Amino acid sequence: MLRSALLTAARSPGLRSAAEHSALTRPIVNRFVAGEQLDSALAVARELAADRLVSMDHLGENTEDRAQADAATEAYLALLDRLGAEGLAAKVEVSVKLSALGQSLPGGGPALATDNAARICARAHTEGTTVTVDMEDHTTTDANLESVRELRRDWPGTGAVLQAYLRRTEADCAALARPGSRVRLCKGAYDEPASVAFRERREVDESYRRCLRVLMAGEGYPMVATHDPALIQHAGELGAARDFEFQMLYGVRPEEQRRLAASGHRMRVYLPYGSAWFPYFMRRLGERPANVMFFLRSFASRH
Ligand code: FDA
Repeated sequence: MLRSALLTAARSPGLRSAAEHSALTRPIVNRFVAGEQLDSALAVARELAADRLVSMDHLGENTEDRAQADAATEAYLALLDRLGAEGLAAKVEVSVKLSALGQSLPGGGPALATDNAARICARAHTEGTTVTVDMEDHTTTDANLESVRELRRDWPGTGAVLQAYLRRTEADCAALARPGSRVRLCKGAYDEPASVAFRERREVDESYRRCLRVLMAGEGYPMVATHDPALIQHAGELGAARDFEFQMLYGVRPEEQRRLAASGHRMRVYLPYGSAWFPYFMRRLGERPANVMFFLRSFASRH
């Protein structure tokens, strides 16, 4: 229930604007977000890249006008130029949300977002890195997978994301477990109805295991995005004889990230930055009551 309330709040424009403009929330948010500016984010990425891989996300979603979609695209192009210029491209890729690139704009939004993503993929290719297309709420799953299919025609290294909480995902895993196909498997972070998604934690975890088995038995490149110790162990066993990577969010279980990297696993950290952090941050609170307590304690201590 708390999760649903937080995810509803995540969509509130009023709360979003108040939070993003408040200096009080900033230090708390910094646990999960690498600053508002590209320079501060690159400094964090460089540090992480000493022992891990990174996927950088320029925060933003549900863009409401063309100018915002263009600005988000330009922000990624500038990021990729810096990754190339600073020698980080071998270890740092980017994650994009199609809704930030214009997907929900009326009159051809999905095509606009795919075109913008194609510009980002082209620049990533020039600089020597890759792009992964984040997955958003279930109303966008088909459009996102269609965009990934299109992008992969020219840039086969483009990563897809599948969410184990969706009932459809085991079948999507089977369809995507093809040679060269990079697939990030996560549990899913949105508040989805029972008609399309498993809502019980046990069901989601079981689905994750089934999906993992399909990806690990397939010919693609599984990217195991979870902080869940039981699933991490299961992935380690299933993937012992093959190529795959673990992924975790910046600020979540950093010691475990370092441990996995030190034990020889490929470990990638999802690193968001930028000023539009509110929905991302609220999804992190929704995942873990301890994060809400951390937030409230830090907030109270600043008053
Ligand atoms: P869950 O939240 O169920 O936690 C399972 C267990 O992990 C906990 O019981 C605890 O043991 C441990 N744990 C979790 N957080 C911890 C903490 N802070 N400290 C200590 N232990 C902790 N979602 C989406 O819908 N679309 C997307 O594109 C992405 N992309 C993405 C990329 C990457 C790299 C990651 C890691 C995640 C995403 N997600 C996502 C988010 C994902 O769907 C999910 O919401 C979160 O990863 C939380 O789920 P967990 O698998 O970690 O399990």
